[in-house]
Amino acid sequence: MRKPIIAGNWKMNKTAKQAVELIEELKPLIAKSKPEVVVCVPYTDLWAVKDAIAGSKIKLGAENVAWADNGAFTGEISAEMLKEIGVEYVIIGHSERRQYFGETDQSVNMRLVQALKNDLKPIVCVGETLQEREKNKTKKVLKKQILEGFKGIEDFTNIVIAYEPVWAIGTGKTATAEDANKTIGYIRSLVRKTWGAEVAKSLRIQYGGSMKPTNAKELMAMRNIDGGLIGGAALKATDFAGIVNYKG
Ligand code: 13P
Repeated sequence: MRKPIIAGNWKMNKTAKQAVELIEELKPLIAKSKPEVVVCVPYTDLWAVKDAIAGSKIKLGAENVAWADNGAFTGEISAEMLKEIGVEYVIIGHSERRQYFGETDQSVNMRLVQALKNDLKPIVCVGETLQEREKNKTKKVLKKQILEGFKGIEDFTNIVIAYEPVWAIGTGKTATAEDANKTIGYIRSLVRKTWGAEVAKSLRIQYGGSMKPTNAKELMAMRNIDGGLIGGAALKATDFAGIVNYKG
């Protein structure tokens, strides 16, 4: 059985002070929840959030990780720095990183290798743009992102994949549950073909893109969907809790 995982991606939102306020509001709301709960927060919030979540079931995540150990990489944050704070998860290859900051399947692969080497659990994002979808290229795009992004990876135990169709991010447009399930099913079949049945069976794959309390239950009921990566709705405690508690 794959344990559902609901992760918030706060993106570039919340100062450390605001972050603590949100966590304090969130804690009692999700205290009895079944899924694994993660908050991936800006680097500057990590220490404060680490203290705020102490004793709760919320796990700490960052929004990226450098592919080098250390050195002359202005603006980057290393796995060692994250580990020292107590970070458990890292998002890698979010579409906004690919779109605005030149992230490629190769750099995703390098960051992924570095995360695994340092026992950080990667949430690797894949997904097609609207243009690619309209040209019927979804499978082709996903195949490339996965085969190149996961090149050389053998152990998927700590890996989570987030399928985030770019056209559904922050737009209010959600993929229908059937559609998301079908595409995630394709990802799973590709993983099965490439890395074997055992890996495909145990690998957790999230859906991301305008997920909210009103559509979480339907999405989470799908066979292939093991969780959600939540943007906008993760910034409001009641909304995020509404998704975490999708079972009611
Ligand atoms: P929204 O939930 O705001 O659409 O963002 C999804 C996302 O990009 C999570 O990584």
